[in-house]
Amino acid sequence: MCGIVGYVGGRPCRDLLIAGLEKLEYRGYDSAGISLLSDGHIDSVRAVGNLANLRAAVGLADEDGDGGVAVAAPPATIGLAHTRWATHGRVTEENAHPHGDCQDRIQIVLNGIVENHAELRRQLEDEGHRFSSETDAEIVAHLIERHYEQDLTEAVRAAFGDLRGHYAFAAMHSDHPGTLVAARHECPLIVGLGDGETFIASAIPAFLRETRRVLLIENGEIVTVTADGAVIIDASGNALDPPRDIEEVTWDEEAAEKGGFPTFMLKEIHEQPDAVAETITDRLSGIDHVDLSELDLEPEFVRNLRRIVIVACGTSYHAGLIGRYAIEQWARIPVEMDIASEYRYREPVVGPDDLVIGITQSGETADTLAAMRLASERGARVMAVTNVMGSQATRDADTVLYTRAGLEMGVAATKTFTAQTAAMYLLGLWLAQSRDAWPQEQITAIIAELKGIPSKIATTIESVEERVRAIARSHQDRRFFLYLGRNIGLPVCLEGALKMKEISYIPTDAYAAGEMKHGPIALLDESTPVVCVATNSPILDKILSNVAEVRARGADVIAIATEGNDDVAEVADQTLHVPATDWVLQPILAVLPLQLLAYHVARLNGLNVDQPRNLAKTVTVE
Ligand code: G6P
Repeated sequence: MCGIVGYVGGRPCRDLLIAGLEKLEYRGYDSAGISLLSDGHIDSVRAVGNLANLRAAVGLADEDGDGGVAVAAPPATIGLAHTRWATHGRVTEENAHPHGDCQDRIQIVLNGIVENHAELRRQLEDEGHRFSSETDAEIVAHLIERHYEQDLTEAVRAAFGDLRGHYAFAAMHSDHPGTLVAARHECPLIVGLGDGETFIASAIPAFLRETRRVLLIENGEIVTVTADGAVIIDASGNALDPPRDIEEVTWDEEAAEKGGFPTFMLKEIHEQPDAVAETITDRLSGIDHVDLSELDLEPEFVRNLRRIVIVACGTSYHAGLIGRYAIEQWARIPVEMDIASEYRYREPVVGPDDLVIGITQSGETADTLAAMRLASERGARVMAVTNVMGSQATRDADTVLYTRAGLEMGVAATKTFTAQTAAMYLLGLWLAQSRDAWPQEQITAIIAELKGIPSKIATTIESVEERVRAIARSHQDRRFFLYLGRNIGLPVCLEGALKMKEISYIPTDAYAAGEMKHGPIALLDESTPVVCVATNSPILDKILSNVAEVRARGADVIAIATEGNDDVAEVADQTLHVPATDWVLQPILAVLPLQLLAYHVARLNGLNVDQPRNLAKTVTVE
């Protein structure tokens, strides 16, 4: 979830670039850096922490006179800047971008992940290239150096051809003081066209104060940017025909922060393909292996692990419930799930053979932290699954598994939930693999499915959104929603019901469908919409019988079903389909229509979905 800003034009650009990075801060980052080219020489400054630290580092470079970033005469009018969210390599100054080649003539900034970095690094090292960071990104600077023969665009195009993964990057070369070259494969890249100046960035807010005229770079394209504009070519070197249309951004600054969406929540719902891709891609770089070598757990402990206990609050608790199914199904380790605010006040029986996992997107939720500490005091090994580097949970835990969803502004968790769910899938597979608990062919098959999940999330959101809005319209005045599911569909119902109540203020209940006949059935009549999660699973027949019981009481059934399954549509009033995948992975898709349903019901009722009443993003009170 890094940020890229580049500038070439007639103005001194150091402060323009840092101001651009400020506009991308919302994406989350742990370090930042800037490179400026002046007088045939590139100076770079990088700093760990927030942009205030980068500003201070730039200022220090000024005073020393050797950083040259501010004192370069004349001041630089071309440069690149970056906010980094660590994936490969720790959070250090060396690993912050921009990254250079061996001769310090090229600098690059990159968003995303280069999957074949290990292989490329080996090749480049054999050819004599020297690396100064642990990142996958630095490879790109050396690849450009390898291919460079006076033509920067050609060198970037050739380097682009060597890469696999999902990324966007921008490069500059000290021999080309008026040119930036950038390329895109699945991570956003936008050119901003000013008057005698041009910007390149990973998101429009970075330059919106300066210009509203943009060119959207598409996948597989390379763009050469000068003060006069931009030339786009495809990966084979052909110019675009016809050339890309210039678009005019009509959003104001506030809308720009929301990426053109009316709310942060909707923007974040749409960011889920990215959030999940960032979380899983480099951990699934091979076809048959989950790489969680970042976890600080000895193989012996993992092999002898007796039990896992998961503690969490709110939405994170629901991600934990899904994780329980995955871990038990694949790794055959017993998993207990507990609400952190309950666990901490019990006398839990827990000890050195147990792994206690605290799931908390913020890493600061007081009850989850307390539950983790209690487990730690009793000798258990404690893992944090969190989205925020440096948060308290990361400091308290013995080991950390990061989700990489970027900063979430909406109070209702959406993209952090799917990223947590993806992280739990990774963990389940990794444990299965580490303990030889499941046949390798099955693990390989799930890995292949999991890799396809980000694009299935994108397809799902696109295909259901209009219908969900229509369904929301027909139910916006209902006074109660019941959610029913079984097995791994149950946590999806719990999450859907939580989303609905927290942002629309309509009472909801979520129930294990098998329990319906023991009470909740009394609630059913013509006025009750019942949301059923009926995606493919070994117990789909059972849920279909429950749907029939609900229909017999006159209630309206809104079902979430798997594409290709027509049995559900036959018994439900309205059916929303999600793409087929392995049944354990279905929840990460099934939850999407439920997030959207809650969202549209709340919006149709005129409510502020980003800031629901009485709720806070992080609950730090004891
Ligand atoms: C608050 C938020 C929820 C979140 C819960 C747990 O209640 O409103 O969206 O799920 O805290 O937060 P955590 O940061 O621990 O995941």
